[in-house]
Amino acid sequence: MTKRRLTEQEKAYNEQRHHLISSCSAEYLADAPFLFANRIQITQMLSRVELFKMVLDIPGAIIECGVHRGNSLMLYFQLSVLLEPYAINRSIIGFDTFEGFRSISEENDPKDINEQMFSDTDYDLLKNIIDMNDAIRPVNQIPRCELVKGDITVTAAEFVKTRPDLGIAMLILDTDLYEPTKVALETFLPLMPKGGVVVLDEVCYRNFSGETLALKNVLDLNKVELKRLPFDACVGYFRI
Ligand SMILES: C[S@@+](CC[C@H](N)C(=O)[O-])C[C@H]1O[C@@H](n2cnc3c(N)ncnc32)[C@H](O)[C@@H]1O
Repeated sequence: MTKRRLTEQEKAYNEQRHHLISSCSAEYLADAPFLFANRIQITQMLSRVELFKMVLDIPGAIIECGVHRGNSLMLYFQLSVLLEPYAINRSIIGFDTFEGFRSISEENDPKDINEQMFSDTDYDLLKNIIDMNDAIRPVNQIPRCELVKGDITVTAAEFVKTRPDLGIAMLILDTDLYEPTKVALETFLPLMPKGGVVVLDEVCYRNFSGETLALKNVLDLNKVELKRLPFDACVGYFRI
């Protein structure tokens, strides 16, 4: 999701929010994360909690394709540590270039996007945050959260080859783009057990049609029981 189509009221809201945030210290903000949380952020948080609960009884990894700064990834990580602290067979694995959009398709992605979008991220910071949290969680000798840096159209297949143990409980598709979504579906779907959950962050969304088009091209939509969360206009999911 980008901020390409904001209304004037939303722009004004964002300006005031920015102004108020500038008056607070980083610590003040971090210690009260809901102070400036907006409707979309709360919706996303609630969606992730609901989705995570769907795979609590399914072993295997939660793979997020499209991590950006790691906001969702860290939420899944914290939910895993909190709700299944000793699940040594759970891995939260984030795939991203950490340098913005790549493999943009001229034909299947929007014309008004570019490789700079989502490049405002910090891989080392996210790695340090994971390490910091690892130090205080149970069974921390076994990694719970992994980052795979690079273009998914290359890294997905490479990663699978290195991990014969890999089974996937939940596949989250959130690169917003056609090609990486298609490759992720082709590479990871065969590793998902029946009941596993596939999540598309921009399903049937006209401003970013790539994810939906990839789904249609890889699977027969008539055989997919695609569902939505009633409070979230973006996310769609289905069980294998
Ligand atoms: C919408 S953001 C992800 C947001 C994140 N899931 C969250 O909830 O905070 C999309 C991400 O996909 C990544 N991305 C786009 N194309 C990619 C590709 N070909 N390979 C790997 N990552 C890619 C971008 O770098 C960007 O960080």
